[in-house]
Amino acid sequence: MNDLANKRIILGLSGGIACYKAAELCRAMVKEGATVQVVMTEAAAQFITPVTMQALSGQAVYSSQWDAREPNNMAHINLSREADALLVAPASADFMAKLIHGRADELLSLMCLARPIERVPLLLAPAMNREMWSHPATQRNILQLRADGAHVLGVGQGEQACGETGDGRMLEPEEILQDVVAYFKPQSLRGRRVWVTAGPTFEAIDPVRGITNLSSGKMGFAIARAAREAGADVTLVAGPVSLTTPRGVHRINVRSALDMHQAVQPALTQADVFVATAAVADWRVAQMAEQKIKKDGSGQVPSLAFTENPDILAGVAASERARSGALFCVGFAAESHDLLRHAHEKRQRKGVPLLVGNIGPATFGQDDNALLLVDAQGHMELPRADKLSLARQLMVQIAQRLR
Ligand code: C5P
Repeated sequence: MNDLANKRIILGLSGGIACYKAAELCRAMVKEGATVQVVMTEAAAQFITPVTMQALSGQAVYSSQWDAREPNNMAHINLSREADALLVAPASADFMAKLIHGRADELLSLMCLARPIERVPLLLAPAMNREMWSHPATQRNILQLRADGAHVLGVGQGEQACGETGDGRMLEPEEILQDVVAYFKPQSLRGRRVWVTAGPTFEAIDPVRGITNLSSGKMGFAIARAAREAGADVTLVAGPVSLTTPRGVHRINVRSALDMHQAVQPALTQADVFVATAAVADWRVAQMAEQKIKKDGSGQVPSLAFTENPDILAGVAASERARSGALFCVGFAAESHDLLRHAHEKRQRKGVPLLVGNIGPATFGQDDNALLLVDAQGHMELPRADKLSLARQLMVQIAQRLR
């Protein structure tokens, strides 16, 4: 996908070992269609060379305000006027301390100060040692930067180049990329709390066996990501899948349908939107064996008795807030044929205002899908596309239907 098509991004590097991640970030943004102009401080060039950044961005790097390449010798003005965003990654403690004073003694800070503040957003991806990060001076500077309109992204947690462990690592390139992409998206769900169920469930037979299904969780994870991009506060209740949690999404891992049922209960009082994409097992084994069921050589096969699982979506849709319209519920239906008829029937049976139909075999495990939206007014098709694009379109439809 080209999530950053037609976007001109200035990628600023200040000094820090996380400069090595800026190379990957630059590549990822170019891959998404952005034109990336790299600007480096003198300290950044101690960690990675301008040659590397030039090769990855396809543009000559700027590092001095005295650069004679610009005919008017005003790189700070020319470059910052053309940009859609200025992203400093890594933003060192020292660089941020400079910004709060409006200092401008080298090209990158000069550009941060000279950019048209209402038109060119400043995004900062901090990177530093954990003590530097938690120091009151740094935390104070971050508050000031936010008050001055900068968008300070978070930091990662873990092992640091200095050998210590804690907060302050720069976010991973993919995480920063997701934040940059989200920054350009319309915030149609800002302030809304969205809960999503995703993936299969696993119903244990004994400690080593169980019954599950082929749901990959990809559609639900794409919906969680799209909701967060649209500004929502997102909780993702995920069955057993090995997908990466979308950036900024709160994930709760569950295994069985009963676990999932339990995990979504806070949504009844807290959520504004509930989207049930999970392929929940209809039945569970009535009595899970405490120990592994052994084959005893007699040729006898075990018999399993089943009991019905709660219908999670129908339960949420029957709650008081859902019936009053304060909680908007969206169901999914995976069918093999007669999609429109089954989707209408399922919408009524589940008691939800919006039901999204798709063809099961054409979506399970795939990266793309096609959706059929069914509500009380009629239906609407979202033609085949990758799941993230469909999820974004679905968020637009949901946002339009919210009170
Ligand atoms: O009844 P069916 O499984 O076809 O319904 C699919 C929809 O209901 C999906 O939105 C699914 O997440 C939800 N569902 C549920 N709990 C169940 C079964 C289905 O939330 N036990």
